Amino acid sequence: MTTLPQVLVDPSSPAPLHRQVYESIRRSVLDGTLAPGTRLPATRELAASLGVARNTVMLAFEQLIAEGYLEGRVGAGTFVTHSLPDDLLLASRTSAVTPRGGRDENLSARGRLLADTGRLNRREPTRERAFRIGLPDPDAFPFSEWSRILGRVSRKPELALLGYGESAGYRQLRDEIAAYLGAARAVQCDASRVIIVSGSQQAIDLVARVLLDPGDAAWIEEPGYPGARAALAASGARMVPVPVDREGIVVDAGIERAPDARVAFVTPSHQFPLGLTMSLGRRAALLDWAHRAGAWVIEDDFDSEYRYAGRPLASLQGLDGYGRVIYVGTFSKVMFPSLRIGYMVVPPELVDAFISARAIVDRGSPSIEQAALAQFMAEGHLARHIRRMRSLYARRRELLVDAARRRLGGLVEVDAPETGMHVVGWLPDGWDDERAALAAQREGLVVSPLSNYYLGEPPRPGLLLGYAACDERTIETGMIALAKALSTLGVQASR
Ligand SMILES: Cc1ncc(COP(=O)(O)O)c(C=O)c1O
Repeated sequence: MTTLPQVLVDPSSPAPLHRQVYESIRRSVLDGTLAPGTRLPATRELAASLGVARNTVMLAFEQLIAEGYLEGRVGAGTFVTHSLPDDLLLASRTSAVTPRGGRDENLSARGRLLADTGRLNRREPTRERAFRIGLPDPDAFPFSEWSRILGRVSRKPELALLGYGESAGYRQLRDEIAAYLGAARAVQCDASRVIIVSGSQQAIDLVARVLLDPGDAAWIEEPGYPGARAALAASGARMVPVPVDREGIVVDAGIERAPDARVAFVTPSHQFPLGLTMSLGRRAALLDWAHRAGAWVIEDDFDSEYRYAGRPLASLQGLDGYGRVIYVGTFSKVMFPSLRIGYMVVPPELVDAFISARAIVDRGSPSIEQAALAQFMAEGHLARHIRRMRSLYARRRELLVDAARRRLGGLVEVDAPETGMHVVGWLPDGWDDERAALAAQREGLVVSPLSNYYLGEPPRPGLLLGYAACDERTIETGMIALAKALSTLGVQASR
């Protein structure tokens, strides 16, 4: 759908009209009013609605395209680009806090970084399930048990649950998590090292606040998780994309690009978004580098519960003999994301600093939900739910792979690791995955283009297809819709 941007033009202003149109659209792109992928109206239509000459709008569009805010696609129109130029600028800046001339003067240097990199709040909540990634199936969650426990805890809360509570988190929940992580993930910890956070996102943000200075280098997986990239970049750190191959992050490439990085962000159990598992050799090399460089490794273990074959893998933290790993986990995938409860396990010498930072940010997480979650775990409901979801999602994964094979006629090559909640569908070389995702969106699907997860040029186009929240019928009808969307693209223009 074409979106008419909020363009403000003031004929009495000394600034040229085309400059005003340019600035107005640029701001709407940066503040998210115009989301990535949005199609802009034709220049003639926009010029008419603004009461300016078409040439004025064309000049503004040309400038925005040249700077990478917009992209024109032959025959399709003009769209807001998916990888904003400011992200890329950020990647190459040595000191990211240098004030930028002409930027919003109300903001501090840190505020500008937050405004420019914090593009996470863009997702419109839609009801479409196929093939949204990262969403557990809400229909399969045992809400009756959860609400019974939540009701019990909140009906007559003990006094301790009504005050400010410990910033590190509710003690019983930290005990439950420490026991779970020790048994299920071979994490070395006790409750004193577990800090409750409002999701992995806050854990990564706290690492950036506590351990990174502006200009410090941070390795991030390429492709990688935009949430982590945004949190680290917003601290003024220099993003160093490090490629991922079949064994996980290529440690030698990281050492070549930034041997003195302060932080490395990795997803060893299930690389996001490609789904690979980091090999033992790479794990050892990463830990060895971190030890020698005095760097910290953030291990984001966001959905390792969903492993459908083979033995459960131990965490990277469990292998770490040097104490360089900060382990991060979340209840977003095993419960539901709006719960906003996650945890981090930090090396002993960092515990006080992290608890202090947590207290400054927001004092702590809501105590009643933490207490209810502790009881939900203690009574075995969470472990039972995870066991059920593991077999449900394994079945859905197989259904999706089978439907893709039957419906997509060999056009899409599916890479389906036996872990996680989505697969990667590789498109033929030369296809534009953003265009494919837009075509899928027109058919009522939510499909993520793989290129969204790269800072640089992606080597191959692809689509991420989530299956966890899709029942059998949704998978089948979704795949028919995807086949239709891809067939409408016809012969693709190369990227
Ligand atoms: C790689 C990765 N880490 C973490 C998360 C979860 O984040 P949070 O715990 O903040 O909900 C996600 C969710 O999509 C993710 O993809």
